[in-house]
Amino acid sequence: MDFDELLRGFSEVSAAIAKGPVVSTVTAAEIRGHLDSQYDFRQPLGLDAIVADVEQMLRTWQVQVTHPRYMGLYNPSVTPASVVGDTLAAIYNPQLAAWRTSPAANEIERHTLAWLAAKFGLPTETIATFTSGGTEANLSAVVVALTRSFPAYVEQGLRSVPGSPSIYLTRQAHYGLHRVARVAGLGCAAIRIVETDSHLKMDLADLARKVAEDRRNGFLPFMIVGNAGSTAAGVIDPLADLARFCKEENLWFHVDAAWGGAAVMTPRLKTHLHGIEAADSITCDAHKWFSVPMGAGMFFCRHPNAVREAFRADVTFMPAKSAETVADPYTTSLQWSRRFIGLKLFLSLAHHGESGYVEMIERQASLGELLRDLLQRAGWRVVNTTPLPVVCFTREGLDTSKFLAELYRHQIAWMSEVRVGDGAPVVRACITSFRTRESDLEWVVSQMGQLA
Ligand SMILES: Cc1ncc(COP(=O)(O)O)c(C=O)c1O
Repeated sequence: MDFDELLRGFSEVSAAIAKGPVVSTVTAAEIRGHLDSQYDFRQPLGLDAIVADVEQMLRTWQVQVTHPRYMGLYNPSVTPASVVGDTLAAIYNPQLAAWRTSPAANEIERHTLAWLAAKFGLPTETIATFTSGGTEANLSAVVVALTRSFPAYVEQGLRSVPGSPSIYLTRQAHYGLHRVARVAGLGCAAIRIVETDSHLKMDLADLARKVAEDRRNGFLPFMIVGNAGSTAAGVIDPLADLARFCKEENLWFHVDAAWGGAAVMTPRLKTHLHGIEAADSITCDAHKWFSVPMGAGMFFCRHPNAVREAFRADVTFMPAKSAETVADPYTTSLQWSRRFIGLKLFLSLAHHGESGYVEMIERQASLGELLRDLLQRAGWRVVNTTPLPVVCFTREGLDTSKFLAELYRHQIAWMSEVRVGDGAPVVRACITSFRTRESDLEWVVSQMGQLA
């Protein structure tokens, strides 16, 4: 297939987005009115007209996360190669559930994941799968950890466990983990919130205290979740210390590196994730800092047998296993029918190469430093500490929500509001687009000075 036209269109759309507004003020009533008036689905409509209309809606009625001045949550601009990958996946629509149905697609995913597992420093026997996102990967981690910690869990469920299993994390961990605990049947009460130090990193002494106390009280500690780039403030927990503690205490060590995991690509940033190589499992999202379209999460686990046990499936209607050396993803992951999620990452890695990614990720990290610097010089107070490009800041007497409303009204940038620790709300800006330039930051900070 010739993708020249698609890529030309992609490049034109990206350029138009960069020149246009970043924030939309549309109301649900406006959109519903339009949809009700245009689409009753009774008669077929021409595809060109529908596509033009949908594009117009997307162009004007959303926060443009691929805009250079989108400094929001971990939603990236997407590389052209990854767009081609997602398109190819849709066109060929391979079914990845069983290896035999899609040998090429399965091997492409396996190859990509094995390469990344090595980047994390995980052993060669590591098993990995693409997931819908970080939440599915975190759920997989909890289910596999339960399976390994409580062998009767797979057949008998939690009622076979002689006590209440508990998970340890900090308030910085993604809230999705609470939902994961609910879905896994543990309930939110299974989650123990560990205190943090002044940089919001997990406090090991408090962790040790809580684990010991829980054991004394008959609870069953089984898992610790360390942050490698927390959502609110980019916090990286002391991963090496946590790994050591988990080993000593026989606990499962999961690292949520949904966004920050991409830092292992660069020698300069990788040092900050030291200890991640000792994790029992890792969550990392390609649809965050690897700059590919949603949804592309990844789950890595160094215990293949536990993964196989957690997700085993004995059915007669699937194609028979081909050889011992290949895995059927429907027996090693939560999903059954599987889209070719990994192609967008494979194409993007192959096209940009490791060096291209190193440059992209380090440039974004440097822009984070520049933003910190510009803000401080302009009198803002930066309240978080991280080597990653997430900057949380405020100023004496700032009304964050009013400030953000003005920021949006003037189409200066999209940033968000967050509470860091127990403090008052502050502004959070993340360099999440590889399209952001130094000049964007200089302009944004100067414009913000006129609002605050
Ligand atoms: C650290 C972290 N973990 C997990 C998640 C959830 O990932 P997803 O939205 O891909 O399900 C996020 C989302 O931003 C995140 O930042």
